[in-house]
Amino acid sequence: MSELSLVLPANPAASYQAHREEFDAALQAALGGTNYILGENVSAFEREYAAWMGGGQAIGVANGTDAVELCLRACGVQPGDLVALPTHTAVATATAVVRAGAKPVFLDINPETFLLDLASLGKVLVSEKKLAAVVAVHLYGQAVDMTTLMAWAGTYGFQVVEDCSQAHGALWEGRKVGWFGHAAAYSCYPTKNLGAIGDAGIAFTASPDIAERILSLRQYGWRERYISSEVGMNSRLDELQAAILRVKLRYLDADNARRRAIASQYDAAFSSLEILRPSVHEGHVFHQYTIATERRDDLKDSLAERKVVAGILYPQPIHRQSAYYEYVDESTVDLSSAEEACRTLLCLPMHPHLSDEDVARVSDGVVSFFA
Ligand SMILES: Cc1ncc(COP(=O)(O)O)c(C=O)c1O
Repeated sequence: MSELSLVLPANPAASYQAHREEFDAALQAALGGTNYILGENVSAFEREYAAWMGGGQAIGVANGTDAVELCLRACGVQPGDLVALPTHTAVATATAVVRAGAKPVFLDINPETFLLDLASLGKVLVSEKKLAAVVAVHLYGQAVDMTTLMAWAGTYGFQVVEDCSQAHGALWEGRKVGWFGHAAAYSCYPTKNLGAIGDAGIAFTASPDIAERILSLRQYGWRERYISSEVGMNSRLDELQAAILRVKLRYLDADNARRRAIASQYDAAFSSLEILRPSVHEGHVFHQYTIATERRDDLKDSLAERKVVAGILYPQPIHRQSAYYEYVDESTVDLSSAEEACRTLLCLPMHPHLSDEDVARVSDGVVSFFA
């Protein structure tokens, strides 16, 4: 009998194999181009991404962390400002807040969706803390309630940056995320729903003024070549990554549909199990398929015996990581749901190139563990 292959949590190489000729041709064309920095692939990708969003302006940047920082700065966040974000997210979201010079205010997550808890934001809004911005992280592929958040942004006067790094194409009330806040950031890290073959990111906004500021900040603060009007960064999207992303963008909707189909197969297999599955909104794009159980670590080990690799995203909330201790103030909000998620959440393999047999192996592994 042949050896079982590993079922991986994500598999960017399978995506390359699926469209190998198109990727190879795109890379060859980019290598033969005349401008290796901010050349025609970056411009074309920016146009194509904005067209896929249905308008607005997309700006290619070096990675998702920079995209969040650039959006915050372009939205007017100043050194010393307070910026709220969930404590259960990629640490990169908090890194970007601090890199923008701001002070993070950590919020809890809603235990039913694992997303930013609006009740905990509400407590901060009525406290003496004056927020300059909130980062709405559409974690695991599911949108935050942007209707309530934007209404509060109007009432309390804060900026909203959407962190869409795990949610390319996710919908809130029928509209793609990225359109609701003042600006939006995307990571195109290889395992993301729209992933490059290295680091890459996108900043998106419907505001021409914010777009202009991001364009300047991504390249040394230049408004005019060689003349900086403010201290910017070097956060340009690479031509080769842009060439790859142009190919991947053509498959993004189909890939997201396949992710949803896999999620439905998992849902059906787990319907009678005592595990917590998040309440799922219609526009979910399943960057991750998450389940929660008190027996999380044993389940992970048991799946590993069947050569199924499940992931723990994230093992520690950000407010428990020593780099961020100085910003922690638990007097206003309780962060216990985030702590519990770090203890109980498991991400099952989820990517568009899982075969039906792979999905069945994962499902059987979970079902027999609880049997
Ligand atoms: C929610 C979230 N924000 C930001 C980032 C940072 O993106 P990058 O790794 O491209 O800098 C990531 C990627 O891990 C992410 O998942």
